[in-house]
Order: sequence, then C-alpha cells, then structure tokens
Amino acid sequence: MTARRTDHARAQRGVRNPWPVTLAATNSPHTIDVRLGAFPDVLTDLATGSVTLIVADPPWNSAQAWADLGPFAARVLVPNGIVVAYIGNRHCFDALDRLREHLTPIRLAFLPVLHRDAWDPEVKCDEGGSFIAVFAKGRFDPPRPWRSVVPGAVDGRWHPYERPLENVKHYVSAFSEPGDLVVDPFLGGGTTAVACAELDRCFVGCEVDLNAFEAVTARIRALGLTREISTDH
Ligand SMILES: C[S@@+](CC[C@H](N)C(=O)[O-])C[C@H]1O[C@@H](n2cnc3c(N)ncnc32)[C@H](O)[C@@H]1O
Repeated sequence: MTARRTDHARAQRGVRNPWPVTLAATNSPHTIDVRLGAFPDVLTDLATGSVTLIVADPPWNSAQAWADLGPFAARVLVPNGIVVAYIGNRHCFDALDRLREHLTPIRLAFLPVLHRDAWDPEVKCDEGGSFIAVFAKGRFDPPRPWRSVVPGAVDGRWHPYERPLENVKHYVSAFSEPGDLVVDPFLGGGTTAVACAELDRCFVGCEVDLNAFEAVTARIRALGLTREISTDH
C-alpha cells in the first residue's frame, strides 16, 4: 500500500529519484525541509537519535501508518524524545497498542475539533474529534509544564484535516527547544512545518499526496522565509 502510493506520487512527478521534490527554506540557521513521498521511504536519511519531537497525524483510517510509526520513532528519536500523535477513532485502540510496542505511553487527551466529513460509515457514527496521545522514548522528561489539550481555530485553507496551529505550536514549544529537530511524517496542510518556522525549530516532514504537498509548499512560501536552499519543485 505504502509503496504503491509512493510510486504513484513519483509517477505524478515523472521522476525516479527517491527524494524527488524537496523544498528547504529558512530565515535563520534552522531549516524547514518538506519532501514529497511516503515517510518510510523519504525520511530514511534521518540519523538515529537525532529527532527531539515527532508530531504525527496519519489518515484516520490507515492501520499501516501506526505499524510504521513506532519503529521509525524508536530509531530517530533522541533518548527521552517525544511523540505527539493525533489519532482518529477507527484505529485508536490499535494505534495505542502499536506505539506501546516501541514507546512509553504518557498521556491521552481528546481534541473536539470536527472536520466536514468526519463520518465513519463502518460504525455509522461521527468521529467527534481526535485523540491526542503523547508517548516518550524511554523516560518522559519534558523541559517545561504543558497542557494536555490547547484548543484553537483551524485555518481551513490548506488541508481538509488541518489541525489548529495554536494546538500544534503548544506541543512544539513545550517539548522542544529552538534549533531542535522536529519531524512530521504526515504533513497534510503543513501545520507542524509552520509551527516550527514560527518557533525557530529545525523541521523535516513529508507528504505522499502531490496536491497536499503543493499546498504545503505554497503555505511555506507564503511565510516569506528569505532563503530557499534547494528545490526542484
Ligand atoms: C490527517 S492529514 C494531516 C493533517 C495535518 N496535521 C495538518 O494539520 O494539516 C494526513 C496526511 O498524511 C498523508 N499521508 C498518508 N500516508 C502517508 C505516508 N505514508 N507518508 C506521508 N504522508 C502520508 C495524507 O496524504 C494526508 O495529507
């Protein structure tokens, strides 16, 4: 499934390079790097033990995403590194089990933000919002106090399932320091990338869908970061 979607994205670009499209932009020593492709393929160059925080918001109906995320996080996170995962209802129980195989569970909260078509036909019920699960690699030792849920308004222009920027910024500022590396393997509308640009974190993220990726690059360019390091986009 993952490989098929990646091939599809590459075919859309007409290129075979494993990192076909990267936009890296900066207004400080810290770079915002967004890539087109599926995360098991295009984030392989991240060094073991290099990432302070992962913000992950996979599609609500993707079981494979959770199976892939735990081992990835266990490899790339620094000791005591943190995962903040937005989890839809369908795979909540399974997702928590998958992450627990690799990480320490810390907190589960609920963000009651509804999206337009948040309806699960399989169980004839709305989604109601998302769980937010916090996991740690080993011991949880956050640098400062934090709130389990910070609500906020969704911008709504960038992706059908965008998260509120204030919500994401809260976790980024609570669980990392300026200059730390933050990763989002499921960019969607790029909310985590924007949070990191505004909070002066280094960022790497990827998105498998070309249309979504183009929205992310447009959103990042709209931030007016002064220096684009490399792009074939
Ligand atoms: C729920 S959305 C993320 C929304 C995002 N948090 C925001 O605030 O805009 C999930 C995104 O993950 C993308 N996606 C799904 N599988 C992926 C994969 N294996 N690698 C990278 N992106 C993937 C989907 O195309 C979708 O755009």
